Amino acid sequence: MALHPNLKPIASLIGTWRGPGRGEYPTISSFTYTEELTFTDVGKPFLTYLQRTWSPEGSPMHTETGFMRAPDAETIEFTIAQPTGQTELAEGHLIEAASGFGMELRSRIVNSATAKQVDQTQRKYSLANDELSVDFAMAAVGLPMTHHLSSTLRRVEPAA
Ligand code: HEM
Repeated sequence: MALHPNLKPIASLIGTWRGPGRGEYPTISSFTYTEELTFTDVGKPFLTYLQRTWSPEGSPMHTETGFMRAPDAETIEFTIAQPTGQTELAEGHLIEAASGFGMELRSRIVNSATAKQVDQTQRKYSLANDELSVDFAMAAVGLPMTHHLSSTLRRVEPAA
């Protein structure tokens, strides 16, 4: 199955990534987690995306899923569904670097009637030397844009 040419700039994301993360927000206690991200090529001009996280004891924590589009060499559009009642439309730019690339995305959010209020989010992904760093900030529950999550992931090699 040939990779759609639009996906060439982000092809190195394809696969599964795993590693430790840490979260905080002024209204909650800080926490740590293990994160796994999977970006899959399905032969269309987008990658499917699944994120799962677990507590240090192994209980499931946050999960989210969506689609990443790269309509041109610099533009990223990432649509994400949250089980907590938000949909996130994250848009921004791809910044190419010698050893990988970075992405800085800003999201518009739609909150369901019973969800905690999230007004805006910022996502940064940085891939360098086969290490994927993820940073997430949000303006939520009445606070301005504030850091919530950071994680550092390594590629999980497919089973032989
Ligand atoms: C790695 C992924 C994530 C993990 C492990 C995580 C974990 C947590 C934890 C443990 C809490 C505190 C307890 C709770 O309210 O459940 C929390 C609160 C919260 N998170 Fe996250 N979260 C993640 C991603 C997100 C995302 C993507 C959003 C927004 C789209 C989000 C929005 C919130 C909000 C609004 C709160 C409530 C803050 C409050 O009540 O004051 N989280 N998160």
